[in-house]
Amino acid sequence: MTWTAQDIPLQTGRRVLITGANSGVGFHAALELARRGAEIILPARSEDKAMDAVRRIQLEVSEARLVPAVLDLASQASVRAFARFVDQRFPGPSIDMLINNAGVMAVPKRELTPDGFERQFATNFLGPFALTALIFPHLKSQPGTRIVTLASEVVHRGRIEFDNLQSERNYVPLYGTYSQSKLADLIFALELQRRLEAAGSPIASLGAHPGIAITNLQSNMTGFYKLIGPLFTPLVGQSAAQGALPELFAATSPVAKPGGYYGPDGAKERKGYPAPARVPDAAKDASVARRLWMAAEQLTGVTFGLAATS
Ligand SMILES: NC(=O)c1ccc[n+]([C@@H]2O[C@H](COP(=O)([O-])OP(=O)(O)OC[C@H]3O[C@@H](n4cnc5c(N)ncnc54)[C@H](OP(=O)(O)O)[C@@H]3O)[C@@H](O)[C@H]2O)c1
Repeated sequence: MTWTAQDIPLQTGRRVLITGANSGVGFHAALELARRGAEIILPARSEDKAMDAVRRIQLEVSEARLVPAVLDLASQASVRAFARFVDQRFPGPSIDMLINNAGVMAVPKRELTPDGFERQFATNFLGPFALTALIFPHLKSQPGTRIVTLASEVVHRGRIEFDNLQSERNYVPLYGTYSQSKLADLIFALELQRRLEAAGSPIASLGAHPGIAITNLQSNMTGFYKLIGPLFTPLVGQSAAQGALPELFAATSPVAKPGGYYGPDGAKERKGYPAPARVPDAAKDASVARRLWMAAEQLTGVTFGLAATS
């Protein structure tokens, strides 16, 4: 299958909320959705960053309808403030798509957020969990409404350690803390679909990953990885525009399945065109998913009102 941005169905009249759209694959996802006529809400960590993304999209799509906003996923107060902004600006069920795209990787030393959470777990998982729950009432309860959450090929190296969720026992920046946070994202996407289905909701939850894409994500790398990254990534990976395709596929293709997980179709899912991605056994355990969900609700104090399936 060679699915490209040309295959995105017309999005006129649809409203999309995408995080992390000022950079990397998120920027390209927002750009392509704007090209197809969607209105895009694009919160970034500062107003300047959001406005910069707006300007860069408008250079290519002059008629684009773009709503800049501020959101720091590492701060639960910011997530709540952004949700209040959405409550006021877009009351009622008025959003067609939420793409949990933003993320941070390999923060060199363990850092705590203002809420006392480890930064990668907070930004990549707890923030998107709370955001999704708070935005949930604004999602249109109709077929075609989708929530897409970005995981990573590192989910295959991830483990959910309930006694080390905040990496308090052991901090391994990339293949430890980051992979746990990304595995948590995939588990969340799949568990959300199970709960939506059980509740009889027509809203679909899907996962996606960009393979290895040339973006700013590697900017935190240190030591050996910092040295080889600039050589390795372009060699084995792909452009940010190509890396945006799996999330665009998950968000818009009529062929993408609720509860599906999509990534590039090349060797080791590093590059290529969107295709079903391998789901590790660690993401299939429904009891881990329920426990993780409960932990996220307790830590964030936010609930979906969607019951566990068993
Ligand atoms: N690139 C890859 O090879 C790769 C592989 C697997 C998975 N992914 C996933 O793909 C997604 C997009 O990453 P990317 O590669 O496009 O990297 P990127 O270029 O660094 O973009 C990441 C985006 O997330 C935003 N972000 C970071 N921390 C945030 C916070 N606390 N609150 C709100 N937004 C925040 C960044 O904002 P700032 O500009 O303010 O930093 C940026 O807009 C991430 O979820 C990542 O884990 C990427």
